[in-house]
Amino acid sequence: MRAKCALKFREAGVDDVREIQRVARITWDHTYREIIPESVRREFVSQAHSKDSLMHRIGSNVFLVAATGEVILGFADFRRLSETTVELAAIYLLPEIQGRGIGARLLQAGIARFPPPTSFMLRVERDNAQAQRFYEAHGFRRTGEHAEEFYRHVVHEVEMILGSPETAL
Ligand SMILES: CC(C)(COP(=O)(O)OP(=O)(O)OC[C@H]1O[C@@H](n2cnc3c(N)ncnc32)[C@H](O)[C@@H]1OP(=O)(O)O)[C@@H](O)C(=O)NCCC(=O)NCCS
Repeated sequence: MRAKCALKFREAGVDDVREIQRVARITWDHTYREIIPESVRREFVSQAHSKDSLMHRIGSNVFLVAATGEVILGFADFRRLSETTVELAAIYLLPEIQGRGIGARLLQAGIARFPPPTSFMLRVERDNAQAQRFYEAHGFRRTGEHAEEFYRHVVHEVEMILGSPETAL
């Protein structure tokens, strides 16, 4: 009988690229199917999660995965913007494991990598209420809303910040 691997939160490596691409594709379709047209989703997912782009992000950012053995269930990408400000550029978990506290552990594992005082900012699609509830539950507050052109499609993004505004950009 094969032993079941425990869930771990660890830094992503180059060997994880294909699995991260799989998680991004599935989770993007599931999350944005009603919000962002399919052609835009496809283009974004393939460009932002191309092998080159992911290798760069893994090498430059705090890029964590939630994994059981070699199987990746989710990832989070924390990008430093300044000495005291970090952007949570992505946090995605496969649909079947959402709502079980794994996102909370992944978020906290990333936050813990940066010494205080650090502020964390992110942008979330205005209609992604589930993610906004999740961020609010972790202390993020809304600081603005912008409309932005995204692959020839206009998206409305809510900006949220965790930490003192003085340390934000
Ligand atoms: C947002 C996300 C990372 C949260 O991780 P998670 O493991 O699902 O969230 P947790 O289980 O830690 O926390 C659940 C809480 O967040 C909210 N929540 C977020 N996603 C949820 C889901 N799919 N099912 C149930 N609750 C969800 C609820 O308010 C819940 O609060 P509660 O525990 O008081 O009921 C994850 O749901 C996800 O990947 N969603 C799709 C991708 C996405 O929207 N990413 C953010 C883009 S900006």
